[in-house]
Amino acid sequence: MVEIAVERAAINPSDLIPVTGAYRNRTVLPFVPGFEGTGTVRRIGAGVTGLKPGDRVLPLGATGLWQSYLQRPAEWCFPVPDDLSIEQAATAYVNPMTTLRLIAELKAHFGGSSGLSGRRIGVTAAGSAIGRMLLIALSAEGAEMTAIVRSEATAARLPALPGLQTWVTGQQLAGKDVVFDALVDAVGGETGGQLLRHHLSPGGVFLQYGALSGIPVAQEALSARPDVRFAFLWLRSFVHSAGRQALSSALAHCFDGLRDGTFASEIAATYPLSRISEALAHQHAPNRIGKILLDPRC
Ligand SMILES: NC(=O)c1ccc[n+]([C@@H]2O[C@H](COP(=O)([O-])OP(=O)(O)OC[C@H]3O[C@@H](n4cnc5c(N)ncnc54)[C@H](OP(=O)(O)O)[C@@H]3O)[C@@H](O)[C@H]2O)c1
Repeated sequence: MVEIAVERAAINPSDLIPVTGAYRNRTVLPFVPGFEGTGTVRRIGAGVTGLKPGDRVLPLGATGLWQSYLQRPAEWCFPVPDDLSIEQAATAYVNPMTTLRLIAELKAHFGGSSGLSGRRIGVTAAGSAIGRMLLIALSAEGAEMTAIVRSEATAARLPALPGLQTWVTGQQLAGKDVVFDALVDAVGGETGGQLLRHHLSPGGVFLQYGALSGIPVAQEALSARPDVRFAFLWLRSFVHSAGRQALSSALAHCFDGLRDGTFASEIAATYPLSRISEALAHQHAPNRIGKILLDPRC
């Protein structure tokens, strides 16, 4: 085992599921939230090699980052390169790796590594951290991207990418037939259902990875489209089946994306863990732009 002094932890939507009591039969108490964060190794147990006190690490694969000290098996602790800032390290894992997995799924659907060039891909909740990462990374793959957002204010702060179309839900997308080869959805509910029913070409893929609306895509919408593939992506499934080598390799891609800006996350604020209530209120604030981080040292 390795004991880590946690220095920054992120608040992500998935952390709020146990915190709010959703799916409560899956939460075993006592429970410490926090899937993502970074810290420094404080002590190592007998037989641990490859890590020593003072090393910066990312502990993967379990919750518990919203506390000052965390003990994890050494095999689940991954070194953080020195050139990454503490904020970069604390946001290096969940969203960048989910983005990489979503892109891998899209490539698998369309076949081969060049399969995304010229594909029309719509991304919902495009102003979210993952939405922004998807827009940048898929544009770089040559895909024709449409950012689907719920307000003009969000549309106004999307990354400036060549050829990027923007669709504010409830409005028409001027001058374009809105049919996509792939939809990557984190909203679900009515928005996801309408997109699936009316805006996905036959043979396309609807890749869902979140339900920010709090409502799943209706079964009728799924039944209405036997001509497309519907898939749900869980980062957790990959993390717990990939093995350490594949996770190290995926993290190396995440770190590269942080360095070149593809996976950069805007930071809205950092709160001491002692002010967790304020941090959670800010997380829910309608005008929040960027991630909320916790500093568990104070
Ligand atoms: N499947 C997985 O393994 C996995 C892994 C990581 C994350 N996720 C999911 O990915 C999603 C995004 O995570 P994130 O960290 O990128 O989020 P985030 O940065 O916290 O951003 C969420 C943003 O989505 C927009 N939004 C919220 N509710 C919405 C709704 N009902 N309709 C449209 N837009 C809405 C809001 O932006 P505006 O106010 O600007 O519209 C909000 O700021 C979450 O659902 C999360 O649970 C899934």
